[in-house]
Amino acid sequence: MYPILEARELTNNIYFMIVKAERVAKNCLPGQFIIVRSDENAERIPLTICDYDRAAGTITIVFQVVGAGSLKLAQLKAGDAFHDFVGPLGQPSEFCKMPLEELKQKKILFVAGGVGTAPVYPQVKWLKEQGVPADVIVGAKSKSFLILEEMMASVAENLYITTDDGSYGRSGMVTKCIEDLISEGKEYDVCVAIGPMIMMKFCALTTKKLNIPTVVSMNPVMVDGTGMCGGCRLTVGGEVKFACVDGPEFDGHLVDFDQAMKRASIYRTVEGKKFLEAKEGDTHHGGCGNCGGDK
Ligand code: NAD
Ligand code: FES
Repeated sequence: MYPILEARELTNNIYFMIVKAERVAKNCLPGQFIIVRSDENAERIPLTICDYDRAAGTITIVFQVVGAGSLKLAQLKAGDAFHDFVGPLGQPSEFCKMPLEELKQKKILFVAGGVGTAPVYPQVKWLKEQGVPADVIVGAKSKSFLILEEMMASVAENLYITTDDGSYGRSGMVTKCIEDLISEGKEYDVCVAIGPMIMMKFCALTTKKLNIPTVVSMNPVMVDGTGMCGGCRLTVGGEVKFACVDGPEFDGHLVDFDQAMKRASIYRTVEGKKFLEAKEGDTHHGGCGNCGGDK
């Protein structure tokens, strides 16, 4: 069991928890995720890691209630425990594999949308710890939906907040903010965009126009997190990929977002899942994700 040390609502159905999970905390890197179950019969829920403390053996998660499964999670309190807390899953961010001197030459822009602010935080924090500054745009529908502002301000070189309704910070969506920063004379070698799929699609279209290579973190439907169920299948640069084992980060200019969004809505029903299994045949499942033998 994995005890919850702290649990609170940040705002508008978005929850923050600190969980004791020593093995995950010892091994995780920015970009990776976990799959949790509140009890042995509960639905598996994939969640990005918002923060980790190796010394304390804790992981911070931030999630939004979007259905019965996440509502059950939100009802857990400090002192309760998760039945499963599996991870770290997926590939660490590309930054973690890059030589430090190369990384230090890069001008990096993170774009965080809504709840996607949570997985951006550990990446910016990790870069700051390596001595690599990064600018961050955080977009929210309005001021009351903004999360983790102070935490992000403590690690970002420059933090640009933008709200869709102009109630706080700059006005407009994150894509407008990217364009405005470039018009104001900012230059970036790489952009990392994390948030709702529609946001990542439009960020990638914007940065393609601006010639800025872009990484996105995909969060399609996930079930097993091991490449076996086929839930998280994506097309990237014309190739079949599985977000749980090949990602979750991919080249945003190569991801087929329209297919990913359509697939996510079909996969939510049992009938839709059977339809995709039949349609995708042998390529529906990813195999173990390590040998690539089933792909
Ligand atoms: P939201 O709808 O409030 O959007 C956040 C910001 O994204 C907006 O303020 C806006 O700036 C930008 N945005 C939205 N639509 C856009 C568009 N069409 N063009 C340009 N910019 C746009 O976000 P939310 O309600 O917090 O999002 C919840 C979603 O985020 C869920 O679907 C969840 O699955 C997803 N999510 C993704 C990740 C990930 O790793 N990619 C992590 C956590 C949550
Ligand atoms: Fe099952 Fe990725 S979650 S294949």
